[in-house]
Amino acid sequence: MPAAADPARPLVIAIDGPAASGKSSTAKRVAAVLGIRHVDSGALYRAATAAMLRRAPDETTWSEAGVLDAVHGVTLEPVDGTFRPLLDGAPAEGELRGVAVTSRVSVAARMPGVRTWVNAMIRAAAASHPVVVDGRDMGSAVFPEAAVKVFLVADPHERARRRLVERQGGAPALAEVLAEVEALMRRDAADAAQTIEAPGAVRIDTTRLTPEEQVERIVALARGVAQG
Ligand code: DC
Repeated sequence: MPAAADPARPLVIAIDGPAASGKSSTAKRVAAVLGIRHVDSGALYRAATAAMLRRAPDETTWSEAGVLDAVHGVTLEPVDGTFRPLLDGAPAEGELRGVAVTSRVSVAARMPGVRTWVNAMIRAAAASHPVVVDGRDMGSAVFPEAAVKVFLVADPHERARRRLVERQGGAPALAEVLAEVEALMRRDAADAAQTIEAPGAVRIDTTRLTPEEQVERIVALARGVAQG
């Protein structure tokens, strides 16, 4: 059951789950329906990784102190109902979503100091505005008091299929889906320690849900809390 809303604090809706479970797109749409802002914590881990990559392409040489120095170049800019990380003052969306960052981001995300930095950025964004935040540990580590906590899960084949459709459009071949399942399994393993289903979270299996149905369920939870 979701907790009752505390009128003294801006509303937080925390959506967690593994890679390609639909967290960010769902969170963005829930925020739009409710007229509040979306914050993507994964984008900040990606920004920290991209900032470090610009300095040192070989991640085996990275130290926590090095990444924490590199993140001085990262800021969060409110834009179109969400927050966009800027690198050295400029948008870098393609770089953040590219293979070089995606294949190294777990290295930075395992560093405790980097987690503290991301969490402080997210809390600052949520301090004065109601938000929908998404990630791996938003409901467990960052906003344990969140009014609504959701943990999204989906069958790995469906997650792989969605990811391929998003990337290349059209129906992917079975061999492509299977290769993507393997890649997702590797990412799940790399992120396992950080992916924590919060106590009290509502688990939603999205395997057979449309994006609209996922959004509706979470909006209904949020409206239930607002009505006490
Ligand atoms: O959701 P994503 O693929 O954009 O996440 C990028 C990376 O950041 C991934 O390795 C998981 C990690 N992450 C995390 O450890 N904790 C979060 N709250 C969000 C993302």
